[in-house]
Amino acid sequence: MNGRASPPAAVLTGLGGWLPPRVVTNDDLVRRLDTSDEWIRSRTGISRRHVIDPGMSTAALAVEAGALALKSSGGGDVDSVIVATTTPERLCPATAPLVAARLGLTGVAAHDVSAVCTGFLYALASAVGQIAAGLARRVLVIGAEAYSTIINPLDRQTAVIFADGAGAVVVEAGSPDEPGAIGPMVLGSDGELSDLITIPAGGSQQRSSGQPARPEDHYFQMRGRDVYRHAVERTTAAAQAALERAGWQAGDVDRFLPHQANARICSAIGDELGIPAERRAGNIDRVGNTAAASIPLLMADTVASGLLGPGDRVLLAAFGGGLTWAATTLTWPASAGLRQPTHPGSSTA
Ligand code: UT7
Repeated sequence: MNGRASPPAAVLTGLGGWLPPRVVTNDDLVRRLDTSDEWIRSRTGISRRHVIDPGMSTAALAVEAGALALKSSGGGDVDSVIVATTTPERLCPATAPLVAARLGLTGVAAHDVSAVCTGFLYALASAVGQIAAGLARRVLVIGAEAYSTIINPLDRQTAVIFADGAGAVVVEAGSPDEPGAIGPMVLGSDGELSDLITIPAGGSQQRSSGQPARPEDHYFQMRGRDVYRHAVERTTAAAQAALERAGWQAGDVDRFLPHQANARICSAIGDELGIPAERRAGNIDRVGNTAAASIPLLMADTVASGLLGPGDRVLLAAFGGGLTWAATTLTWPASAGLRQPTHPGSSTA
């Protein structure tokens, strides 16, 4: 014993999710792509998704979700705003300062996290670190995506999966033993496989190459089958490591909330972990793959549907471009704001 007090934990106190009102069904996609409702449902589990209208972009989604999370946490200020996104407002500067300003939080720390579909958990890890280091006592963590702005409308593999939306949480300094405390976090990456998910054009690599970009290189590109295999392997391993560090067995998990990449991927990971289907949460059928927004949107949906409540032991895990992966655990807190029902219409807070 060195007598040193353990650093404060980040405790979940607020949650909000927001989806743009416009719904795109599989049949809508069939009208412009060589695909079918049957293929999309059976291969991905998706039946519809939400997309922004022209003129809306990531910051607007982030502000909606962020405001709901702050409200559910009792309002007030935060010391830091972190936005995880694959679709920043601009290449430079980051989106988070703009979001903070629109939320009336000018002056606070604000930065973006770029880890594609793993972005929310990486952003949460950043919040955990800021709180543990004493840099912040209250942090707003947002995952927000306007994927429809980077998807090639002619690429049937990605156009049927990815969608728009935003989810957010508030975490505050507290005790590692209290419900809501974010457990040990597992983070990893493999940049040798950075080409599996990429937008090849627009960055310094392409700009300094002297080569003009092909139009399709401005869009999100994915080697789906390879990503699929890695997603199952890496997410399972990260989730197992997070369980081990928390001192939990798979049988201790009341609710598994995996990043909603593809319903088949989520099932395969659940099977590998030995978590029965009735303990897994999913909303991909209604929202598609919303990348960095996926986990907080799923949290909000699962609470709203009554399948996640105080005392439930929760496992979160995600995988995405980079490649990147992450997982963590928490016991669901009882705070009133986290029990708000789903707002009718487009919100899921
Ligand atoms: O969010 C984190 C990162 N992303 C992911 O984790 C996504 C990972 N990958 C996937 O979810 C799946 O690989 C996809 C949904 C993208 C594709 O599903 P799949 O079962 O892996 O299909 P596939 O790529 O092996 O393609 C099977 C067939 C191909 O036709 P052939 O070559 O067998 O004749 C594709 O051309 O399905 C075809 N195909 C489609 N057919 C109808 C691919 N996309 C479509 C489509 N509609 N939308």
